[in-house]
Amino acid sequence: MMDIKNLTNDFGVEVRNFDCSKKMGYDELNLLKKTIQDRHFICFKNQKLDGDTLASFTKNFGKLEAYPEKDKTKGKIEIFNVSNVSEDGEHLDPDDQRVILQKNNSRWHTDSSYRYLPSIFSILYGQETLPPKAEGGQTQFSNMLLAYDHLPEDKKILLEPLHQVHSYNDIRRLEPGLPELTYEEKSNFPPVTHPIVRVHPDRNFRKSLYFTSNTSLEIGGMSLEQGKELHKWLVNYISQPKFCYTHKWQKNDLIMWDNRVLLHRVIPYDYAKYRRAMIRGTVEGEVPVLGPFSNEVRLNNN
Ligand SMILES: [Fe+2]
Repeated sequence: MMDIKNLTNDFGVEVRNFDCSKKMGYDELNLLKKTIQDRHFICFKNQKLDGDTLASFTKNFGKLEAYPEKDKTKGKIEIFNVSNVSEDGEHLDPDDQRVILQKNNSRWHTDSSYRYLPSIFSILYGQETLPPKAEGGQTQFSNMLLAYDHLPEDKKILLEPLHQVHSYNDIRRLEPGLPELTYEEKSNFPPVTHPIVRVHPDRNFRKSLYFTSNTSLEIGGMSLEQGKELHKWLVNYISQPKFCYTHKWQKNDLIMWDNRVLLHRVIPYDYAKYRRAMIRGTVEGEVPVLGPFSNEVRLNNN
């Protein structure tokens, strides 16, 4: 039987004595689904996985998302290499575009927010992790349900009607070292907007914050400068330790999180000195992000 232990008072659990590479039973899957819904983050210790077994495990929770770019950092199109190591095991140069894409992950974000249907879960397996005494390399999470609850009333009112632009192509504005997307890649992922206050029908219509810092920084109805100012405020606000859990990696950890309610970022590390190799399976979103004024939410409030 798996052992489950809470990591903080508010969210996160650690699971031991469970093998994610094996086909699981109905009861185990139900327990994990309930756990991720209630606690938003799970770390499964001591796993032994490859791309195929990670894909099979991920499929327990929904459909696998495919990567937007044709041929950048992946082996299988559904398994992303979150890594400064090539598929052949070569430690990549810090200026390599695959590493630049990793550096962008040190900005707070939620995966696939540039899609109309952003992903539900990300599932990330640590194949090579930094030595215990190295600086950086952790993955930090901030709880957006909690952050919303603690917002001052005037900020709730200010944020309530706002939408952010999310654009895969705009990563190039933040990281000019990246090559242009092809026409096909661009047209597969036109910019989208999502409400900054997200409402969760499967959580009793609770509200959370929902924004990113790794794509576009534009907010509808504001000048770019005003949008950037508001972003800066949000980033400082959600970085407070009372909302956060920092995952210090051990090799063979498999972590899973709910992108609908957590933001995450990697703490920068010395990309030239250390190897960090991870593979990720991503569960596709099924519904658009609902804001406070969507019909579904309004009807529920009446
Ligand atoms: Fe990410």
